[in-house]
Amino acid sequence: MKNRRPETVILQALLDAEPDVVSGAALARELGMSRVAVWQHMEKLRDQGFAFEAMHAKGYRLTGRPSALNSALIDAYRRADKAPGVVHVLDEVDSTNDEALRRLSADEATPFAILARRQTKGRGRFGRVWHSESGNLYASFAFRPEVEPARMQTFTLWMGVSLCELIAKFCRTSPAIKWPNDILFDGRKAGGMLTEARMDADRIRDLVFGLGLNLAPPDGGWPDELADRAISLGEHTRQPIDANRFAAALTGRVFQAYQRFVNGDYTRDFADLWNAHDLLRGRVITIVQGSRTITGTARGIDDEGSLLLKPAHGPVERFRAGEVTIAKK
Ligand code: BTN
Repeated sequence: MKNRRPETVILQALLDAEPDVVSGAALARELGMSRVAVWQHMEKLRDQGFAFEAMHAKGYRLTGRPSALNSALIDAYRRADKAPGVVHVLDEVDSTNDEALRRLSADEATPFAILARRQTKGRGRFGRVWHSESGNLYASFAFRPEVEPARMQTFTLWMGVSLCELIAKFCRTSPAIKWPNDILFDGRKAGGMLTEARMDADRIRDLVFGLGLNLAPPDGGWPDELADRAISLGEHTRQPIDANRFAAALTGRVFQAYQRFVNGDYTRDFADLWNAHDLLRGRVITIVQGSRTITGTARGIDDEGSLLLKPAHGPVERFRAGEVTIAKK
């Protein structure tokens, strides 16, 4: 068993017992500390937004949980002694990707995840700003994969379809994926991914997989420029998303999907999953790659994750990178 924090142990015991109570004596036994010490840890949890009902001579019940990301609660949901990887939750950071890169440079053991309640310098693809107010999910996952650089093309795509599967469970309808890194509901963007790998001569030194996911619209609604392009999971399901439960499931899923990627085992499901979620297949699209703009019909992806495009005249072309827009019908 890993060293679990007392707050996580308390929450796990209360969650396991629901709807029953857990006695203070049982918590003290489990933690190997006095009942006064247990009570002090419960006070710390109260300060973080948890609420407990104390039933005279019986014990405690969990009656309230914070809605903001909470490290002890995420670990309790993850069953921290069994789940792989370490999850750090920060209140604010410049960019979770940058924080993960810094920790990799400082030799922190992998895999680990950085989740933040807000980012002050959230980054998207092509150096764009990723608006990162509180209430949404900003996550980065750090790895040191022992795979050759050529395989990295499919990494974000595999992570993307794995996330689509997870989101489908929470939202009960499947999102679509727009090559290479956008997650959409109803034609509007719900999330984006940013993978950053650092190379030595012929191998990947380390890798950060970043995900920004809209859980709820900003207070006051989406700004005009995003109103018809952005959507949140909560808006799609018409129900609030429990950020802590989602974060716990997300971290488990990403660590597991990564393991399948390095094993090579993902290839069994990858093509089927991609085809099930592919937004572009069969649609007329335009791809911009550097100074080149080309229009044609999307034909899915090849084994290496390149986008296949059939122009009106000429053979199918493959694109390893680029920005896609869908032609208006
Ligand atoms: C995109 O669609 O352009 C990709 C957006 C990726 C945003 C996430 S939020 C968490 C992580 N930290 C960052 O600075 N960026 C990624």
